[in-house]
Amino acid sequence: MSIVNAKEMLLKATDGGYAVGAFNITNLIQMEAVIEAAVERSAPLIIQTSVTPSKFLGREVLVAIYRTLAEAAPIPICLHLDHCTDVGYCKDCAAAGYTNIMIDASKQGFEENIRQTREVADYAHGQGDISVEGELGTVAGVEDQVKVVEDETQLADPAAAVEFVERTGIDLFAPAIGTAHGVYKTSDPKVDFDRLAAIRKALETAGLQVPLVVHGGTGLPEHTVKKLLELGGAKFNVSTELKHSLIDATFDYLQANRGEYNPGKIDKAVKVAIKKTVNGWIDRLGCQGEA
Ligand code: 13P
Repeated sequence: MSIVNAKEMLLKATDGGYAVGAFNITNLIQMEAVIEAAVERSAPLIIQTSVTPSKFLGREVLVAIYRTLAEAAPIPICLHLDHCTDVGYCKDCAAAGYTNIMIDASKQGFEENIRQTREVADYAHGQGDISVEGELGTVAGVEDQVKVVEDETQLADPAAAVEFVERTGIDLFAPAIGTAHGVYKTSDPKVDFDRLAAIRKALETAGLQVPLVVHGGTGLPEHTVKKLLELGGAKFNVSTELKHSLIDATFDYLQANRGEYNPGKIDKAVKVAIKKTVNGWIDRLGCQGEA
């Protein structure tokens, strides 16, 4: 039960009216912290790595740590590769044991996005129980190697969304709806709720059951998260907030204990901070007790 892909977990979330937090991690302490928080709250969990940490730590190493921790945890946990623009690396990670893969060909033209996404979906499905996320339109901001300036941002079109999901065979769908990676410039960013509602309706009308992914979780106000949940957002991606938790906790600890040379205590402070962040998201997404 502990090692799972994202699809079943998110279909259940969509039916139950809650969402699952998908947290980007860059090291072992963060992975342990997000798992501990989710286990304590009995919440389903998606752990994500971008391509850079996956290459830096090694995909096989990450998968081995994930499997060890997830197998011992009484909750379903998925390991997701986030925003990978390289079809070959998507396949490498699927073969290594990631259980959900995001091919991000959203900067390509529509046909090329479909072609690359379909290739990854076919490969991952052929490998066994691995689900695939695709993106249509472009999410502004920087996420690892993917950079989209605001002027280039394109939101997803509902009719194109149906065609994209049908022709790619993806399991989860990330439509661009105005959310952005990184820190928002305003405390109340403009999100196109009507567009998400239209996309959901168009998919339902076409008989496509595909959980919806919200990118750019960091900084979204409570009322926006609530509305996105009501509209069917099933997976909320959170990266920047976790990076801030890690770096701020490390900085604060070192500033208060500059003469001390005990790395374990820094790890402990980081763990507390990350768990606090994850707990906040479990509250907002309503997934406590849903494992
Ligand atoms: P944030 O960095 O804004 O939380 O976005 C995370 C994300 O969408 C990763 O795919």
